[in-house]
Amino acid sequence: MNEPSSGSATRVLFVCLGNICRSPVGEALFRHHAGGEGAAGAFEVDSAGTAAYHIGEPPDRRSAETALRRGVVVSGRARRLEADDYYEFDHIVAMDRSNLAEIKARKPADATARVHLLRSFDPAADDDADVPDPYYGGPSGFDDVHDMVERSTRALLAHLIEELS
Ligand code: 4NP
Repeated sequence: MNEPSSGSATRVLFVCLGNICRSPVGEALFRHHAGGEGAAGAFEVDSAGTAAYHIGEPPDRRSAETALRRGVVVSGRARRLEADDYYEFDHIVAMDRSNLAEIKARKPADATARVHLLRSFDPAADDDADVPDPYYGGPSGFDDVHDMVERSTRALLAHLIEELS
């Protein structure tokens, strides 16, 4: 987790179910892209899960290895989405529509975060497309997830940089 924001960085939280397969990849790839754009300092990035099953665990080895083969380190420990997140983050980004529904259901009435579906930014997908849960599937699911998240986080970053300018 990042330190509480002390400056004007835009804070982005990626959320899936378990916070071990998909959202840590979103966090890592968004950070990676931001670094590549020379915008690392403009963003603070984290991830969380709507469920508590895997709290404290590292990212799923399959997600981490898929990313590492492409030169991206996925790290962190799983945590659950908390009420404070709706005030501490500017953007909460759901990996699938089920996560999105859960995030919206828990959203406090006066929350300041804006909630999005990640693949609504994917130039290769419809607005309501999911990053599918790869947990019980085979290895190719993790490659697919990585590709979707790679494209979508790149486009999300471009969108947020545009908003800031
Ligand atoms: P994630 O994947 O939501 O992308 O972290 C999952 C991880 C664990 C489980 C489901 C999805 N699970 O049922 O334990």
